Amino acid sequence: MTARAFGRTGLVVPHVGLGAGPLGDPALDEREVEILLLGALDVGVTLVDAARSYGLAEERIGRHLGRHRSKVVLSTKVGYGVEGLPDWTGPCVAAGVDAALRRLRADWLDIVHLHSCPLETLRRGDVLTALLDAVVAGKVRVAAYSGEGEALAWAVASGAFGAVQTSVSLCDRASLASAIPAARERGVGVLAKRALGNGVWRYGEHPSQPDLAEYWQRWRALGLPLQGWDPLELAVRFAAHAPGVGCALVGTTRFENLRRAVELADRGPLPPDALAALDERYRAVGAAWPGVV
Ligand SMILES: NC(=O)c1ccc[n+]([C@@H]2O[C@H](COP(=O)([O-])OP(=O)(O)OC[C@H]3O[C@@H](n4cnc5c(N)ncnc54)[C@H](OP(=O)(O)O)[C@@H]3O)[C@@H](O)[C@H]2O)c1
Repeated sequence: MTARAFGRTGLVVPHVGLGAGPLGDPALDEREVEILLLGALDVGVTLVDAARSYGLAEERIGRHLGRHRSKVVLSTKVGYGVEGLPDWTGPCVAAGVDAALRRLRADWLDIVHLHSCPLETLRRGDVLTALLDAVVAGKVRVAAYSGEGEALAWAVASGAFGAVQTSVSLCDRASLASAIPAARERGVGVLAKRALGNGVWRYGEHPSQPDLAEYWQRWRALGLPLQGWDPLELAVRFAAHAPGVGCALVGTTRFENLRRAVELADRGPLPPDALAALDERYRAVGAAWPGVV
């Protein structure tokens, strides 16, 4: 898999990373999780993205990849969920970094995001200062922001963050229009979240989960001209090779699905005629759609 410079962070990232969002579920078979995480490294997926809110994901990554620490770019998210501390305060961010280090069994974290806090919180400064202090202390290599819209634009323009994480998929292109080009210009690394648009083409009926429901409606409104393309291939190649994206995060619990996504991304960018057809449909119906957090 192609390795790319991640903005001006000094990190090198693969064009497909593993989104650990689905790895929090206690009901998952631990051996399957191990096969996925170790298999990821075997197929070149050397970046793994977690968060405090992803259930058991951080513990599992620590358990199975802890001894391979030097081969992995570890990404996670903080800002909430520390017992005894109010969310979105400096002490909560500082303690959140320490707790993530313990759960991930790591001496340092490569990318740590403020996880979708609103613009007012970013502007207040205390939360950002706590994250930057963790960088100075050598606990975190790259301070990052994860989110959409105004807060994302502010984060990119602030010059305080080395990386951002934002939604990029066939159903979600808001950031591709301005935040990602601005990030590219400033040397800010970009992780594409929800890169498969949660794979909504697989659902026959309206899903009940709000974010899935939103993408499902968008997918139907787009009515993409598939012209024989497998939607998975369109989705993976679109996100992994979108201009300005360093690494597209694919969320899965199954090694076979990750391997397939890598194989498709390795085919390179979509051909110009396929991209033009996707662009035309998005312009026609999706131009005003906001990024889904
Ligand atoms: N910062 C944030 O607020 C935020 C929000 C959302 C996501 N994220 C990050 O972005 C990552 C990716 O987003 P996501 O997990 O929400 O959604 P996603 O990657 O867009 O889609 C995940 C879905 O696609 C399916 N899938 C994966 N590979 C497949 C394949 N080869 N064939 C068919 N289906 C496949 C998975 O099912 P199977 O498990 O069956 O493979 C899963 O249901 C997350 O894991 C997380 O790291 C961050």
